[in-house]
Amino acid sequence: MEESALRHRRAEEEDAMNGIQVDDVYRPRKHLKGKILTPRRIFLGFVALISVALLYQYELIRIPFLSSTSTWRPLPTRGKSTSGVDTEKRDAIVAAFKHSWSAYEKDAMGADEYHPITHRGSNFSSRGGIGYMVIDAIDTMYLMGLKDEYNRARDWLSSRHTFDRDENFNTFETTIRVLGGLLSIFHLTKDNLYLEKATDLADRMLPIFDTPSGLPLSMANLGLQKGVDDPYRAGLVSTAEATTLQLEFRYLSHVTGNDIYWDKVEKVMSIIKKSEKPWNLVPIYMNANTGLFLDSEIRLGSRGDSYYEYLLKQYLQTNQTEHVYREMYDAAMQGVHDKLLVKGAKNGLTLTAELLPTHSRDPQNKYTLSRKQDHLVCFLGGSLMLGATTVGSRNPNVSRPPRESQLTSTGKRDWKTGYELIETCVDTHNTATGLSPEIVYFYSPEEVQRQGDEVTADWYIKGARRGAWPVYDARYILRPETVESIFLAYRMTGDMRYRKIGWKIFKSIEKYCRLEEGGYASVLNVDDTHSQKDDKMETFWLSETLKYLYLLFEDESVIPLDEYVFNTEAHPLPVFTPNRPLANF
Ligand SMILES: *[C@@H]1O[C@H](CO)[C@@H](O)[C@H](O)[C@H]1NC(C)=O
Ligand SMILES: *[C@@H]1O[C@H](CO)[C@@H](O)[C@H](O)[C@H]1NC(C)=O
Ligand SMILES: *[C@@H]1O[C@H](CO)[C@@H](O)[C@H](O)[C@H]1NC(C)=O
Repeated sequence: MEESALRHRRAEEEDAMNGIQVDDVYRPRKHLKGKILTPRRIFLGFVALISVALLYQYELIRIPFLSSTSTWRPLPTRGKSTSGVDTEKRDAIVAAFKHSWSAYEKDAMGADEYHPITHRGSNFSSRGGIGYMVIDAIDTMYLMGLKDEYNRARDWLSSRHTFDRDENFNTFETTIRVLGGLLSIFHLTKDNLYLEKATDLADRMLPIFDTPSGLPLSMANLGLQKGVDDPYRAGLVSTAEATTLQLEFRYLSHVTGNDIYWDKVEKVMSIIKKSEKPWNLVPIYMNANTGLFLDSEIRLGSRGDSYYEYLLKQYLQTNQTEHVYREMYDAAMQGVHDKLLVKGAKNGLTLTAELLPTHSRDPQNKYTLSRKQDHLVCFLGGSLMLGATTVGSRNPNVSRPPRESQLTSTGKRDWKTGYELIETCVDTHNTATGLSPEIVYFYSPEEVQRQGDEVTADWYIKGARRGAWPVYDARYILRPETVESIFLAYRMTGDMRYRKIGWKIFKSIEKYCRLEEGGYASVLNVDDTHSQKDDKMETFWLSETLKYLYLLFEDESVIPLDEYVFNTEAHPLPVFTPNRPLANF
């Protein structure tokens, strides 16, 4: 399977990075060094002041010490409350979907991946695709009411699609994009075609769990129906990959009445529960034979992220009945607050750092802190707010936005942290294009002290140099995580400022990623308004980014948060009360 499609593909490169080369830092922001007050400068200052006042008036910027008007501090919000559909903006998102889909349909219908600049499709197997793009996108089409597109996609699936491909497919990606996509569209339409496909796929994957520990192998050969070890890391399993199959396999058991899928993924959770975890946080690698964690990085970015997301969502999926997940989630969020949350050294933005293992025998020095944050981490803000209004609420009725009295003390803590993390992710859009980079580093207090006024922001793109070939970290690949959090925050607060932010991000995507001839492409350097593009339109652009943007402007009654959980690929699955014994481990 082509590595470039994998969410967690960059771990090797990331793992190799450490230390911060201050000289390598490219600072895109201009530094004001002028000292003399010329009439021209006074005039420009006056214009700037007026502009700031106008921006503030229209809630396009915030001035913290002036923003005390809301009635429900200290649970922060700022904008005016709104609700209902914003038809014009919603329809603009639908138009973007059509612009993407029609190009794919014309150039590459049925291919797993799409390269919009060269107008080509490609497949993970030389024998043909498994419907990766079509299945990942089909529930978005359905929700958007695109009947013709939907009917053609369904026809393709019913007449031309098969999983019988003798090739190794990534367990995690296939589950979240393909199994999740099929189950979601099955739920929405009740069309048995999708359930048959989902069952066929899961049956082909089941042998991945035949390991000494029960942890799944990282690949499945769908044609041969067998589990396959990761060729680069034999015997190792990525933690997030093993713990982000549960919503999908459990729901499949629920609708088929066949417990086998559920039993397999629940076993994985019981292994995690029993294994020793530093501060209830999980290192990113496990051993498939022993079921134990390896001495490896602890982070909320790649290979760690959706473990935490699915702890909360497993609890929500089964209608808040399985308390083991609530306990694991609570403990993990305590660990996040104790060990991973850090403040930006210049402006005090909240970020989540990573812990790198030192392999020291001294338990006090087992990890060092790295102030690196993946775009992937931006799911966490919305997830924490969702946790605050459910796990962290005193009763089932939380208002919109929640009032202080409705939340427990950890609920209030998580709400505030979630809010702050979203602000940080929004701040990383403060680039030349308004798009956020794949990875940012934050200055340490020592660096800020050493460099003085040259540092104007909390974060930077490591290794970026003006005029040089852009570093990997500088790209925006149409990722959804920031808009996902913004959508969740909007649904839980009704604060129209989130709609404004989402719209602004969408406009940047329109301006810099949209291809005239059709489709959207990744941008290689978010700090260059003439950046080269990459010849790739990721499937998550259609399944996640556009779906969350669409729902941000759609009426709240569409996919209400108390009736659905989104899998980590934005496929909505319904909340249900399980008709089997509750998890007990
Ligand atoms: C990819 O697979 C699809 C579906 O099997 C097929 O229609 C298409 O021709 C394949 N594309 C390439 C480039 O091999
Ligand atoms: C929740 O709200 C309903 C209707 O508004 C009300 O009848 C009920 O008492 C509330 N429950 C709690 C626990 O506050
Ligand atoms: C969830 O549980 C509540 C009672 O605790 C029940 O009223 C509700 O119908 C359940 N929801 C679903 C979808 O099963």
